[in-house]
Amino acid sequence: ACFSTSTAMLKDIKNVTIIGAGLMGSGIVQVAAQAGCKVTMVDTSDAALANGEKIINKSLARVARKKFADDEQQQKAFVDNVFANIAVSTDANSAVSQADLVVEAIVENLDVKKSLFAALDKAAPKDAIFCSNTSSLPITDIAQATPVDRQARFAGLHFFNPVPAMKLVEVVRTDAVSDDVFQDLYDFSKKVGKTPVSCKDTPGFIVNRLLVPYMFEAFRLLDRGDASVQDIDTAMKLGAGMPMGPFELADFVGLDTMKFINDGWAQGGKIEPALVQASKALDELVQQGHLGRKSGKGFYDYSK
Ligand code: 3HC
Repeated sequence: ACFSTSTAMLKDIKNVTIIGAGLMGSGIVQVAAQAGCKVTMVDTSDAALANGEKIINKSLARVARKKFADDEQQQKAFVDNVFANIAVSTDANSAVSQADLVVEAIVENLDVKKSLFAALDKAAPKDAIFCSNTSSLPITDIAQATPVDRQARFAGLHFFNPVPAMKLVEVVRTDAVSDDVFQDLYDFSKKVGKTPVSCKDTPGFIVNRLLVPYMFEAFRLLDRGDASVQDIDTAMKLGAGMPMGPFELADFVGLDTMKFINDGWAQGGKIEPALVQASKALDELVQQGHLGRKSGKGFYDYSK
């Protein structure tokens, strides 16, 4: 079972509902289930849920192969044990009825997230903690869809892609969230094997606020013709110790996502305009439908 927290006042997070079975959602489901939580994965269609299960199965197989190198039986037992902690549902309201924690990882659209949370507020226990995994929308704006009591139990819980491999979670503090809830989320992050850091509810939190302008500066370096895609990536890997160069990483994250985040910040007006200047190379690729690895082509070609 999930280990309980040390203080009686704090919440023992055992039942977790994740809304969204995409890359991020399924990753969060996996790490919570691996930590022994009872997890319900929710999406709007059976196809989306099946896809989430496929992603989890592939990632768990990889973890299992490393844990039990020569023992296929143990590998299978490990995967089965984790899946035993996972239920799936297309009915978000019933899926949160017993939840200690709800984490949303759906489309980055404020109105869609707000109407989801307004409904979940009525369906979930009064003391359930609500979180969004958004990387581009203010948590405070999403939480507005719920009553004041819930806003005190509403925070950002921002994981990184690939969730099973990336060790960080940003716990995003709004002005309204309580200290207890914040502590519960810190404890939960550790329980699922991550290192939490704390950040106020500002654009990009910590990682994306630094990473996205850096990546866009790389795109603009390319726009100016100062260096090639390959040379910039090689330079940042071998000269700055990055695991992936900025173009490899952009293809990995998705070029549409990169553009969406940057455009949102440019319109939001809270960030120095020079940092959020568009990139011609990126805009052209997105317009042509070249979105990175997921579409087979981005800055690099993955079709072969
Ligand atoms: N499931 C389980 N484990 C995985 C995994 C997966 N899907 N992907 C990688 N791993 C594990 C591997 O098993 C390995 O584990 P080990 O260290 O215990 O042996 C470890 O991660 C490293 O993997 P590999 O050795 O196979 O491959 P690499 O060394 O090339 O690492 C990488 C792959 C971890 C993806 C690395 O290239 C990396 O860190 N890239 C940068 C990723 C990054 O910056 N992500 C953040 C993007 S921004 C974001 O998510 C925010 C969003 O809001 C936009």
